[in-house]
Amino acid sequence: MVKVVVCGAAGGIGQPLSLLLKQSDLISHLALYDIVNAAGVAADLSHINTVSKVTGHVGKDSLAEALRGAHTVVIPAGVPRRPGMTRDDLFKVNAGIVRDLAQACAENCPKAFILVISNPVNSTVPIVCEVLKKANVFDPRRVFGVTTLDVVRSSTFVSQVKPQFEPHSNRVTVVGGHSGATIVPLLSQIKQLSFTPEEIKALTHRIQFGGDEVVKAKDGAGSATLSMAAAGARFTIALLEASVRGKRGIVESTYVHLAGNPGAEWNLRSTGLEYFAQDVELGPDGVANVLALPNLSAEEQSLVKTAIGELKGNIAKGINFIKEGS
Ligand code: NAD
Ligand code: LMR
Repeated sequence: MVKVVVCGAAGGIGQPLSLLLKQSDLISHLALYDIVNAAGVAADLSHINTVSKVTGHVGKDSLAEALRGAHTVVIPAGVPRRPGMTRDDLFKVNAGIVRDLAQACAENCPKAFILVISNPVNSTVPIVCEVLKKANVFDPRRVFGVTTLDVVRSSTFVSQVKPQFEPHSNRVTVVGGHSGATIVPLLSQIKQLSFTPEEIKALTHRIQFGGDEVVKAKDGAGSATLSMAAAGARFTIALLEASVRGKRGIVESTYVHLAGNPGAEWNLRSTGLEYFAQDVELGPDGVANVLALPNLSAEEQSLVKTAIGELKGNIAKGINFIKEGS
């Protein structure tokens, strides 16, 4: 039995993400939770002729039932940006939503993998971890900030500049966090390509601010949903391939709690941060190995330095929200 729960399943990300997860034969039960409309989304998806059973759970009273027995919980619940907003502006609303969902996970599925999509990811992941720590059920290998959209964008944007780079089969490592300057694509690690300094600058900027392109184009109707659903499904399936099917060697960039995670000592020491996105090998218990940061180019070192400065504040904000209630 592999039960996957989507919290925020009726939303712009939640619906296409649930549709993509319904295609997977790794999932036997897809539980869709939202404060509105999840029953309709579940009824609709349940007619698709794939193996998983689909159930809908609407409203806070049905959250425990949705989560009980979960193998994996994916969280795209909360408000998205409008033009002119930063991801950090979403903290006011989304911090409380994520805190309450994490608390319900601690009570009903303490061993589940938790995949956090809700922004600001740099702060919502620390919120989830602090809630689990308080409840004495925290395992750093099992909580992930989903930064896969930055990786997906990197492959796409690089392939547009270098057509020989096949976007579907080539991955780009993206480290740091998930907002503007904290997103650091390691283009120097793409060994088969060479870039001019102008190309590096333009590509890095486009990857860092790719989210803004979509927010601007949607013009008040939200942020990335379809590409995020594809990225979220990719990360969820990668984790299931590693944890359920036992497939080895699966690596994805993701934002994790460093202390206590296998292999993370080097990144912990070199960044001085509690949380950082980097390539992670996935395994039966989630994080199998956090890969050490590779040798960075001079530009990347400077970008990582800037990212670290910003991440410090984002992380402290999430931790303080749980520790001090503000
Ligand atoms: P949306 O408004 O379309 O959907 C959000 C859904 O969450 C709604 O259905 C809403 O009812 C639900 N919801 C609100 N409070 C809830 C609660 N307490 N419990 C369960 N569900 C609740 O928004 P969206 O476009 O799907 O974006 C969702 C979040 O994902 C936003 O915070 C957005 O910034 C973030 N996001 C993250 C990434 C990333 O790369 N990590 C990418 C895109 C968007
Ligand atoms: C993204 O990168 O598209 C998301 O984080 C949504 C946003 O607010 O830009």
